[in-house]
Amino acid sequence: MNILITGGAGYIGSHVVKQLGEKTDYNLTVLDNLVTGFRSAVLYGDFIKSDLSNFDEIEGIFKARRFDAVIHFAASLIVPESVKNPLKYYLNNTANTANLIKLCVKYGVNNFVFSSTAAVYGEPDISKMPITENSLLSPINPYGMSKLMSETILRDASKAYKDFNYIALRYFNVAGAALDGKIGQSTKDATHLIKVAAETALGKRDKIYIFGDDYPTFDGTCIRDYIHVEDLSDAHLKALSFLQENKKSDIFNCGYGHGFSVKEVVNTMKEVSGVDFKVEITKRREGDPAVLIAGNKKIKEKLNWTPKYDDLKLICKSALEWEKKI
Ligand SMILES: NC(=O)c1ccc[n+]([C@@H]2O[C@H](COP(=O)([O-])OP(=O)(O)OC[C@H]3O[C@@H](n4cnc5c(N)ncnc54)[C@H](O)[C@@H]3O)[C@@H](O)[C@H]2O)c1
Repeated sequence: MNILITGGAGYIGSHVVKQLGEKTDYNLTVLDNLVTGFRSAVLYGDFIKSDLSNFDEIEGIFKARRFDAVIHFAASLIVPESVKNPLKYYLNNTANTANLIKLCVKYGVNNFVFSSTAAVYGEPDISKMPITENSLLSPINPYGMSKLMSETILRDASKAYKDFNYIALRYFNVAGAALDGKIGQSTKDATHLIKVAAETALGKRDKIYIFGDDYPTFDGTCIRDYIHVEDLSDAHLKALSFLQENKKSDIFNCGYGHGFSVKEVVNTMKEVSGVDFKVEITKRREGDPAVLIAGNKKIKEKLNWTPKYDDLKLICKSALEWEKKI
């Protein structure tokens, strides 16, 4: 299988490239503009530095290489930035995705795996947990909307062009690093809790902020569903197989189906690092739902996905070990 992976030098993309590369049945082309990704994270495949907005160049790549599938990670993903600069998000996430789909249809690339997000659900009611794929779609920021619009384009394209199929994977909170220590999350100025906690444990930050401890949860802090990046990567391999075997489009949540509070995560990082780092409670951020938990019945049943690393200590430890190296 000849696969194009956009954004494959990024955090999640590089882990999927690694899992695919460790198998012999895939030919990989990794395309990334390296704006937030790292060339060194790409362990397998041919690497092409290019930007998805460069339509002619991307079309040249489609002409030269006959892809069987595309896995599309490339995106901008900082929520507050999307509120300040929505056009960046609609152009990089939605318009570039539309152009990529156009090339897939034109060149007969009929299998498309798309990185979507729990942000398409917006701020679901705490009584509505876990979130299923049929829950209300109501993004509250341009980032989430740019992804929902991409999903909509995929849905309509798959209806109009009968051979074109896609799987949208809606990731919850992705965390951790490859367990062999070869790659991990190197994102600059990351806002992801587990990475920030690892940085704080290692003295790269003075303290960690907890944004609000007055939420209607058992300890007052927000609860999220943290999924280890290797389990998430495996979902992509399963999605590819599903597309090949069933030639059918679908959408799946990716998470473990239960969550941890911010305080629990911070305390777990303290425990695995042995460092009692400084924590400051500050006010809530706008748009942070109290609880986000993925209903994962569908992905388990239909993709036959079985998580292996549903263990907060292991996730924190792998993030910490990677953080020591960078
Ligand atoms: N990290 C999470 O917790 C999370 C949660 C939900 C969804 N997602 C989605 O997963 C995908 C990957 O996220 P990530 O955490 O690995 O982020 P990342 O920033 O590490 O990866 C994105 C990659 O895409 C590249 N890129 C961006 N725009 C590009 C363009 N126009 N042309 C070529 N390359 C481009 C970047 O250089 C980077 O390597 C994104 O689509 C994101 O929306 C991530």
